[in-house]
Amino acid sequence: MPKKKLLFLLAVCLLLAACQGTRKGEQKTSVRIGISLYRADDTFINNLQSIFEAKAKEYEQENGIKVILDIQDAKGSQNVQNSQVERFISLGCDVLCINPVDRMDASAIIDMAMTAGVPVVFFNRQPVEEDMNRWDQLYYIGVDAKETAILQGKMVVDLYKEQPEAVDLNGDGVVGYVLLEGETSHQDSLIRTEWSIRTLKNGGVPIEKITGGIANWERSQGSALMEQWLSAYPGKIELVVSNNDDMALGAIDALERTKTDKVNVIGIDGTTPGLEALENGKLLGTVSANKELYATVMLEMAVSCALGESPPEEYPLEEGTYYWTPQEILIRETRKTEETPSQGK
Ligand code: BGC
Repeated sequence: MPKKKLLFLLAVCLLLAACQGTRKGEQKTSVRIGISLYRADDTFINNLQSIFEAKAKEYEQENGIKVILDIQDAKGSQNVQNSQVERFISLGCDVLCINPVDRMDASAIIDMAMTAGVPVVFFNRQPVEEDMNRWDQLYYIGVDAKETAILQGKMVVDLYKEQPEAVDLNGDGVVGYVLLEGETSHQDSLIRTEWSIRTLKNGGVPIEKITGGIANWERSQGSALMEQWLSAYPGKIELVVSNNDDMALGAIDALERTKTDKVNVIGIDGTTPGLEALENGKLLGTVSANKELYATVMLEMAVSCALGESPPEEYPLEEGTYYWTPQEILIRETRKTEETPSQGK
């Protein structure tokens, strides 16, 4: 066959194949989702991943659409994550769920996704607004950091009002606290710290900062810092305010190692080990995001993007882009108090 004719036939075949996938009214029977986690060993992300996988199975059973998940660990490297995205696209993923390593540097991912026409649902680490505004097929699911922090502060304010001696443990009229902070580049760290402390102050708890430090969300780093502080400020620490449950658990590990009692520790997330510590009385309280809902919205958004449909109406998006997961205060004894509505802001 002459070369020209062969090329023509090939072009016709490619065109037909392309039309096949997009023919109107034709329902896809399977969707492929590429997921990249900033670190698979992060407790909160790990909890979310397990629920997401379970939801995908449920979805398959209920809707008869096969949901193929390709889950990758970026191990804290933005370059690794960019290569994973490149691979997802070359494998024909219909949609991507990305937990960015560097939330300030999502542009390479967005470039690749836009060129390939593959929608992206970002989660947990919020890309900057400028990036999010580049395309109408970019979404973000997370938890509103200011709301989280206000709830974290409120749990201590309410307790102080009811039982001041349960917060001012040595009864000297001042509550000495230390602060465990997450990664500096994460939107949650700064906002959580600022609003939690502000809420405590405005709520009338007589707090005094003893010291604080960055433990990058990690239990072991939280534990090391707490151990140093316990020996540097013996008898002074009454409250540990932690930006997440894992670092709070680290502080509890240090309290146990040094056989120190009478220190209140509060966290954020409501992770599995966090809830266990609450249950056995080691953690005073936490602010728990509704992870079932978080994962459900993520899955349903991803599937509707993959099917070329608009996002599910039952989960209203702020500015057509952002979904804020509701959260609740869980505190020892009193336990569950209140849940926020779906939209945090
Ligand atoms: C969670 C942390 C987690 C971090 C990872 C935060 O929102 O509270 O526990 O380590 O996200 O990005």
